[in-house]
Amino acid sequence: MKAQLSQRHLLGIRGLSADEITHILDTAETFREISEREIKKVPTLRGRTVINLFFEPSTRTRTSFEIAGKRLSADVINVSSSSSSVTKGETLLDTARNLEAMSPDLIVIRHPSAGAPHQLARVCRASVVNAGDGAHEHPTQALLDALTIRQQKGSFEGLRVAILGDLLHSRVARSNAHLLTTLGAEVALAGPGTLAPPEFASLVEGRSLRVERRIEDAIEGADVVMVLRIQRERQDKAFLPSLREYAVHFGLTRKRLELAKPDAIVMHPGPMNRGIEIASDVADGSRSLILDQVANGLAVRMAVLYLLGGGAGTNTSNPTTRVKDEAGTAESQSSKPAASSADEPATEPLRAAVSVGGTGTESSK
Ligand code: CP
Repeated sequence: MKAQLSQRHLLGIRGLSADEITHILDTAETFREISEREIKKVPTLRGRTVINLFFEPSTRTRTSFEIAGKRLSADVINVSSSSSSVTKGETLLDTARNLEAMSPDLIVIRHPSAGAPHQLARVCRASVVNAGDGAHEHPTQALLDALTIRQQKGSFEGLRVAILGDLLHSRVARSNAHLLTTLGAEVALAGPGTLAPPEFASLVEGRSLRVERRIEDAIEGADVVMVLRIQRERQDKAFLPSLREYAVHFGLTRKRLELAKPDAIVMHPGPMNRGIEIASDVADGSRSLILDQVANGLAVRMAVLYLLGGGAGTNTSNPTTRVKDEAGTAESQSSKPAASSADEPATEPLRAAVSVGGTGTESSK
């Protein structure tokens, strides 16, 4: 198993190996226990600085990155678009360069433009974590989804996963398509023709990904049913006749869920539109793992900060052996991971978004 990730940034799932994904999930699993302690804090990243740079609204991702950083004892600074100097005309790169001058160790960025984290990675010494870029990728969402699936199903080989809804604008769908098929799952995508173009099937090469027109065909026999948010803010572009019609033809109801395997689980990245893409009784039902996803999001983000932020410098077999208590008796004084040959960020971050209908400039979930 790798001691560290091969890249010092986490810009997307595309390009990660199955071993690297598994390593992040295994590390996250060890961090879950910390959140169950009375004192939910360990000294792993003491002395490190994390900047959360959010240019889009977020509840789950921003909060969990902040809590993750604080539970690892990092200094966490939150910068939002409304409180940053971009409102005065500063460019993203100038903002990044100015933040970089204050020597952060990690920059977590959410931005409405696909490729924004990759731009930062080119100019920053700090490790950059993509917290969602346009319609491109949302890697930590896919990792927390995978952790949730693995806890329930054990493994991914041959697992049948249906991903339903607005694929066109969904960075979650793209990251999950890469991750789940890399680990051996069979993924079926489905949604209205305007939001689920057939070209999506070519998003991954040589792995099991198909696009269905009817969501029933994707749900049938599924082990996992993942529902995406309908992006109501985009309905002025006439992707759908109406939300009511969408709910009738594409919403996940109890009746449609009966087509899946009897032990199928239901997931949604949030925020949900109850009664549109998912019925309330399904969202709150016994098969729903939506809040487990949120809990796992914290563990995954702790793992990512740990692995990229230098916490993994000396011992990755069990991070909790080095993060025993607030007193820091087991704390490592390890330095930042050495730059690897993969230091350069991915050079083609926009390809997936562009080639399968991503806007390249718009936000998505
Ligand atoms: N799933 C997700 O990214 O939610 P937020 O927009 O609340 O962060």
